[in-house]
Amino acid sequence: MAAGRHMLLMLAAAILFSFTSSGKSHEEREPITRFKQYLRFNTAHPNPNYTAPVSFLISQAQSIGLQFKTLEFVPNKPILLLTWPGSDPSLPSILLNSHLDSVPAEPDKWSHPPFSAFHSPETGQIFARGSQDDKCIAIQYLEAIRNLILVKNFKPIRTVHVSCVPDEEIGGFDGMAKFVESNEFRELNVGFVMDEGQASTNDDFRVFYADRSPWHLIIRAKGAPGHGSRMFDNGAMENLMKSVEMITKFRESQFDVVKAGRAANSEVISVNPVYLKAGIPSPTGFVMNMQPSEAKAGFDVRLPPTADPDLIRRRIAEEWAPAIRNMSYEIIEKGPIRDYKGRPLMTLTDDSNPWWSVFKQAVTSAGGKLGKPEILASTTDARYMRQLGIPALGFSPMANTPILLHDHNEFLKDTVFLKGVEVYESVISSLSSFVEPSG
Ligand SMILES: *[C@@H]1O[C@H](CO)[C@@H](O)[C@H](O)[C@H]1NC(C)=O
Ligand SMILES: *[C@@H]1O[C@H](CO)[C@@H](O)[C@H](O)[C@H]1NC(C)=O
Ligand SMILES: [Zn+2]
Repeated sequence: MAAGRHMLLMLAAAILFSFTSSGKSHEEREPITRFKQYLRFNTAHPNPNYTAPVSFLISQAQSIGLQFKTLEFVPNKPILLLTWPGSDPSLPSILLNSHLDSVPAEPDKWSHPPFSAFHSPETGQIFARGSQDDKCIAIQYLEAIRNLILVKNFKPIRTVHVSCVPDEEIGGFDGMAKFVESNEFRELNVGFVMDEGQASTNDDFRVFYADRSPWHLIIRAKGAPGHGSRMFDNGAMENLMKSVEMITKFRESQFDVVKAGRAANSEVISVNPVYLKAGIPSPTGFVMNMQPSEAKAGFDVRLPPTADPDLIRRRIAEEWAPAIRNMSYEIIEKGPIRDYKGRPLMTLTDDSNPWWSVFKQAVTSAGGKLGKPEILASTTDARYMRQLGIPALGFSPMANTPILLHDHNEFLKDTVFLKGVEVYESVISSLSSFVEPSG
């Protein structure tokens, strides 16, 4: 009898043990379930509703004992802030950022509905808009913190914050841009930021130390109108075409550097024509026997942090749209290009930046490998934090994965997602225990 009871207790203990500490397959399924739940919230533009995903993330935070609050600088555009207090709150904190929104999807071009989070039993691929960009990292941050708290009983020295922000895909103006200007942000005393990166098609993880800054450039030409048959100088079209020619040459000179393998696409200034507007409309199209008095063209310009914006401004004023040729221009800067001290908007990736060394070491010790640090060709919310002089790296641990952000059939493989959780466990524990040598 007594022996029997003892056996039973041991059996119960064994079962309990297999559920709590080992039970790998059991534990690995739940992060995937939570990832898929988060992917099913449709937060695509133009009408993302952030209410339900924010409630979901709050419930996740509560289940592991994180503090939470929501800030709303613009109605219906919540910023969710989760906090894991460190043992030394006087040290600058770590901020892990991701965005709540996604770009739209065209369901009829997808093999599975884009908000169904279809999980292929054969390949392990999880299909959803946002699976790579960037709902993966929000859940990976939380799953890594969950494991550090519940499994590893880890205690951070620095406070760790997780922010989930709206509207990144439309420029972040009502999201991160407002957040970084707030007292609430200042009070976080952020020392280092992790933000989204991109998938890598090989074994290396990609890491981004800067974004390019987008400018919208519009050049306008004016000139005397005239009969379509007349040859005369300085018509609006002629003036505009001269500029387009010059801009095309500049574009080629930049592209040549890329083609020669001397720089990546994201390391040069790109100038791409996006529209031309001229002509006098007629019921059948355009009036053909009249040379118009006005014409304009629009360009998408992207500047890496290494470019000198004043040089480009001068080039535009003197060559691309000179007043002397009756031209005018408008530059709409879609974000900062220098930090508050006038320095290029980039995070150093060498030993002079101790955060870099800690991050790199943490990725390595999780069995990962980093590729050469890159400039991101487009932009993310990281630029707003870099503008404050806060070092920020773009990183989404997705190796051996096709780059499908903003594409049809965006997916992430379950094993890649889970490996990312492991990598973040290492990264978050290292960053939050990093204490600079005194001084
Ligand atoms: C967003 O969705 C919630 C339900 O999740 C609903 O109560 C709310 O009215 C919606 N908000 C907007 C602005 O549509
Ligand atoms: C500029 O516009 C004025 C007025 O239409 C015209 O007289 C002049 O020739 C134009 N100059 C050039 C360089 O286009
Ligand atoms: Zn993104």
